[in-house]
Amino acid sequence: MAQPRILILGAPGAGKGTQSAKIADYFDIEHITTGDALRSNKEMDISHLGLEYDTPGEYMDQGELVPDAVVNAIVDEALSSADGFILDGYPRNLEQVEELEEMTDLDIVIALDVSEEELVHRLTGRRMDPETGDIYHVEYNPPEDPEVEDRLVQREDDTEETVRERLRVYDENTAAVLEYYDEDGRLERVDGEQPPDDVWEDVKETVEETS
Ligand code: AP5
Repeated sequence: MAQPRILILGAPGAGKGTQSAKIADYFDIEHITTGDALRSNKEMDISHLGLEYDTPGEYMDQGELVPDAVVNAIVDEALSSADGFILDGYPRNLEQVEELEEMTDLDIVIALDVSEEELVHRLTGRRMDPETGDIYHVEYNPPEDPEVEDRLVQREDDTEETVRERLRVYDENTAAVLEYYDEDGRLERVDGEQPPDDVWEDVKETVEETS
């Protein structure tokens, strides 16, 4: 089998990052994530675009989408050097869907379904290890090593106020992306509200059956 080209969709906190890391590892494919790419370039000067803000970080810290021109270029470059991949965080609106259709053909589109209250609980309790990038949760998935626990940080956009705004932006823009892939018959839904290992079993089975 050629390396699969997979898209994972879901609201903020649905577990896209958690499952993408497992998918990348298991199927030996690249994890392309616009969220991480933008976090590494939060201070990038985009003033030449003449938009509302001059850096990606100003959009992100308020829970708003970074302008398409910036994100499309990041994904285009990442995809051009990838054979198989798991794409996480893109497309987030129908304009980005159109761009992606020009860039590549997808084999599988997976959507993780999780209720809104669970999403808020997950995001406000999420912590990240700045040294390894590993994702934890204060309640569901705390680190065993106290040294790791001491160095954990919270993402700046994981405060309750910004989380609520990110969910509003998701409903306004990204719900239509799921509908698009659902209507063309490519969308495979997975219950993302189960424990992480059970979600992984379903995701793995879905990829293996579909590709
Ligand atoms: P991005 O980084 O993509 O954030 P997001 O989509 O909001 O998703 P998250 O990373 O918050 O959640 P996730 O689904 O990966 O969940 P995770 O696995 O961490 O984007 C951030 C910002 O960048 C955007 O707001 C925007 O500004 C900008 N941006 C990015 N892409 C863009 C684009 N295409 N266009 C424009 N702007 C863009 O899990 C969450 C927590 O839950 C963790 O603590 C985890 O341990 C826990 N958890 C995971 N699974 C489970 C489970 N099954 N049970 C219990 N807990 C679980």
